[in-house]
Amino acid sequence: MSRIRTPLADRLGLRYPFVSAPMFIISNKEMIVACAEAGILGSMPSLNLRTHEEFREALAWIRARTDRAFAINLTIRLTDPERLERDFEACLEFGVPVLITSYGNPTELARRAHEKGVVVFHDVINLKHALKAQEAGADAIIGVAAGAGGHAGTTSPFVLVPYLRENLRVPVIAAGCIATGRQVAASLSLGAELVYMGTRFIASTECGADARYKEMVVNGAPESIVYTDAVSGVHANFLAQTLPDTKIEDRAAAQKAVQQGGGKKWKDIWSAGQGIALARDVKPIAAIVDDIAREYADAVRGLPAFEP
Ligand SMILES: Cc1cc2nc3c(=O)[nH]c(=O)nc-3n(C[C@H](O)[C@H](O)[C@H](O)COP(=O)(O)O)c2cc1C
Repeated sequence: MSRIRTPLADRLGLRYPFVSAPMFIISNKEMIVACAEAGILGSMPSLNLRTHEEFREALAWIRARTDRAFAINLTIRLTDPERLERDFEACLEFGVPVLITSYGNPTELARRAHEKGVVVFHDVINLKHALKAQEAGADAIIGVAAGAGGHAGTTSPFVLVPYLRENLRVPVIAAGCIATGRQVAASLSLGAELVYMGTRFIASTECGADARYKEMVVNGAPESIVYTDAVSGVHANFLAQTLPDTKIEDRAAAQKAVQQGGGKKWKDIWSAGQGIALARDVKPIAAIVDDIAREYADAVRGLPAFEP
């Protein structure tokens, strides 16, 4: 059976070092199980389930279908503290193998997770936050580069991944704009141990996104993506067509348009990264994973050899 091995992929028992990244509203339990079956790490935010009880049911549903690794994303400061605590305890109770913490300080969650042998990833957009997360106990750091879907950074992945790798003790996970096996090969050569893809998996059959959303992803160009803080106050990337005011460079006007019923944040204003340029079709996750693995093999084989 074909495999792509890295130390972190081996530690988690993955066939390929790919992660289907957590996406608010649209990632779901079906994606997690399809990823587990395809040998990669699936994930979703706990908040994608409306209530804590529904989240517990989703964990039981996943657990009944796979004993492979998967991840739950806890969005620390975006989650009501009581809900966060209950969701976290449920993760420990159901033996969730990986926690992805974001939007907050993971120290306390990481300490308690480690007591149960849970692996903790934390996502950042720069070295300063990466060093803090490493001190807080994260087992691996997700470097979210410029052009990523969701809340993205501004540093090129060509710099962010090797820069984090040079300055951290813990493994680095590359995120942002990755949609093909050729980019996976590039990310591993830059020093990443896992590759984190959100946008590519919006265009999967299993993803809960609206069909029109998937269409925009597979038909988009890098220019279709707008980086703005007008929607949520934090810079993130959005599909321009879904923004209520396309004159987004006028921040005040854009914010007003969003507030004046231009749609509910994230629900009607759709986020994606520049990787839409390379995600060309909607397919089942198993087929996407096969494509990426094959492209990876072709890319590695096709590299010019070093002649001493
Ligand atoms: C629609 C959407 C929603 C997202 N929601 C979350 C979230 O709830 N929590 C989180 O940590 N990251 C979230 N992200 C970021 C992704 O986990 C990941 O970092 C990003 O998609 C990687 O870049 P890519 O989309 O270019 O592959 C979201 C991304 C997208 C596209």
